[in-house]
Amino acid sequence: MKVKIKAPATTANLGSGFDIFGAALTIYNEFEAEYFPNAEGKNKAKFVLKGEGRKTLPKGEKNLVWQSMKETFKILGCEGKYDLKNVGITIKTGIPLSGGIGSSASAIVGGISLANALCANKLDKSGIAELAVKIEGHPDNVVPAVFGGLCICAKDESGHGTIVHLPVPKLKIVLCVPSFELRTKRSRQILPKHFELKDVVFNASRTAILAAAFCSGDYTLLKKGMEDKIHQPYRGKMIPAMESVMQAALSAGAYGSYLSGSGPTIAALSSSKKAGEVQKSMIKTWKKESVCAKSYILDFDKKGAVEIK
Ligand code: HSE
Repeated sequence: MKVKIKAPATTANLGSGFDIFGAALTIYNEFEAEYFPNAEGKNKAKFVLKGEGRKTLPKGEKNLVWQSMKETFKILGCEGKYDLKNVGITIKTGIPLSGGIGSSASAIVGGISLANALCANKLDKSGIAELAVKIEGHPDNVVPAVFGGLCICAKDESGHGTIVHLPVPKLKIVLCVPSFELRTKRSRQILPKHFELKDVVFNASRTAILAAAFCSGDYTLLKKGMEDKIHQPYRGKMIPAMESVMQAALSAGAYGSYLSGSGPTIAALSSSKKAGEVQKSMIKTWKKESVCAKSYILDFDKKGAVEIK
């Protein structure tokens, strides 16, 4: 039996919406699992990596896809049926790995979805999202990879979450992905544990404006709505010229610009007409600081992870 899943990249936070806002993007990883009932642990059940991650990602039990499949089999009571030694896994990475666009989220959602498909799709999308949040910890990063679109995620202390799906913006997302890596763990460790009340109010007001901008379609509100005092000023210390690249995007006509997820990728939202100029301007600004960046002009993915037949 063979199953194949395509899971999108995600962009989280969107400025002020730290750990709250997330969206799925039209760039994907593909995951394939094939069960060999008589593999006897060798030859057939291989672990194959393709794409950017082929030289760097771990194989076997250290790989997030493998771990997520294992956890899913356990939760679905299929562990006895599927021994991972007899499951061949192929991962084709299309999502850049340097950080900030949900490559790990895609791997987790991909792994859960593969195992779920092998177990007769016992989990619906909400079940997949709940398990992905349990494994990854940040709903804004994984939930959009499950459902697609743009959402608000509110996690309560018990781990349960409320998800609000917003209208999918009629905008392009310009991504600039620098060549250096920044791991989420490090990028969270540097954040303060406590904030001044005035900064909390600042972010709460901007987050409300952000929601209003997307719900009303008045994208001129995005610049204000993306202002942030909770994470970007701290993370910016590890990302050369972060502020200048965001400013370059705005000056070239973007509605808003922000650090995507925990960085180092920088994103901007713009009309399709202005996206090319925004992209050029962001890349040029980073180049002046000797930072090489790959760039993409993307749409919002509307479907989330899907099984490919
Ligand atoms: N909201 C998360 C963060 C996204 O910014 O750390 C990355 O998982």
